[in-house]
Amino acid sequence: MRKFFSMFLISTMALSFVGCGGADDSAKDGSVAQEAVEVPTIGVCIYKYDDNFMSYTRQAIEKAAEGKAELIMNDSQNDQAKQNDQIDTMIAKGVDSLMVNLVDPGAAPAVVEKAKNAGIPIILFNKEYQDGTHNLDYDKVWYVGTTSEESGIIQGEVVLDAWNANPSWDKNGDGTMQYVMLMGEPGHPDAEARTEWVVKTIEEAGVPTEELGTQTAMWDAAQAKNMMETWLAANGDEIEIVFSNNDGMAMGAIEALKSEGYFEGDKYMPVIGIDALPEALVLIENGQLMGTVLNDPLGQGKASLELAINAALGIDVLTGTEWVLDETKAVRVPYVGITTENIAVAEEAYGL
Ligand code: GAL
Ligand code: CA
Repeated sequence: MRKFFSMFLISTMALSFVGCGGADDSAKDGSVAQEAVEVPTIGVCIYKYDDNFMSYTRQAIEKAAEGKAELIMNDSQNDQAKQNDQIDTMIAKGVDSLMVNLVDPGAAPAVVEKAKNAGIPIILFNKEYQDGTHNLDYDKVWYVGTTSEESGIIQGEVVLDAWNANPSWDKNGDGTMQYVMLMGEPGHPDAEARTEWVVKTIEEAGVPTEELGTQTAMWDAAQAKNMMETWLAANGDEIEIVFSNNDGMAMGAIEALKSEGYFEGDKYMPVIGIDALPEALVLIENGQLMGTVLNDPLGQGKASLELAINAALGIDVLTGTEWVLDETKAVRVPYVGITTENIAVAEEAYGL
């Protein structure tokens, strides 16, 4: 195994492994080993810094790394070729493990091949390889993220509760939910699953839906605002609800709705997002965002880093953590539905 143990890590390990053998010498008198060594260096790629949710995840990673790991951070600027170069550079620098938020989930086999050739462990996070990390030909690759469909199911449940409690939302009184859908990037497992499962959940509960438009706005508020403006011009009052794959796009839609006089007097449109960004919680409080689903950036950032540190140390990736791995070698952090009732849950997850 490579030599990069820090004083800090040795003391932590000595404390956590007392009784497990191996750390006995340093633990006997409560002192730590006197070997002067470095903390592991971890190379991190974020698919683009300019993404609301990923910027919170990035901050969580940086915070979790304090005193525990040296990070080399990269903004892949939504460019897979650039990310590949960044990975090559970090491997050349001799990083001890890699944490990669892919630009293109389909690039996973090629990216993992680079790590494998260099013998470096790699944690993929936030964007899951379609076929599952366990299908990649490398024993030192793991995934940290969520169960994508869970977010769509919870979003559907939050919508159902509110729809059933507010008969006036069925503007044309036909018992059917006329909706528009703002999608994240096509091919992203979260975007695909959220789009599918929110509608499925509502329909399976016996409420028919009618799609008036589904378009990608690439997780982005400005693109979503444009899309919503187009839909309002084309469909106006026929739209009864806006489903958004994330809060960033929901916030863009709300901007467009505000320009058309919504959220004033009786003019209302239910909009639901996912992520529970702090700026979205403010909109829930002031009645412009109906609800959201907590996508826990602290949990995901911390889990990714903890696995990357353990992998760098060559020990079981779950050592000293609260996480479990499923059969696809993935840690899946749970989602939680958020409305006016439980905003505090989301505030805590964002460290507010
Ligand atoms: C999703 C998140 C989106 C966006 C995306 C980027 O999990 O909900 O807002 O950040 O990841 O991959
Ligand atoms: Ca209707």
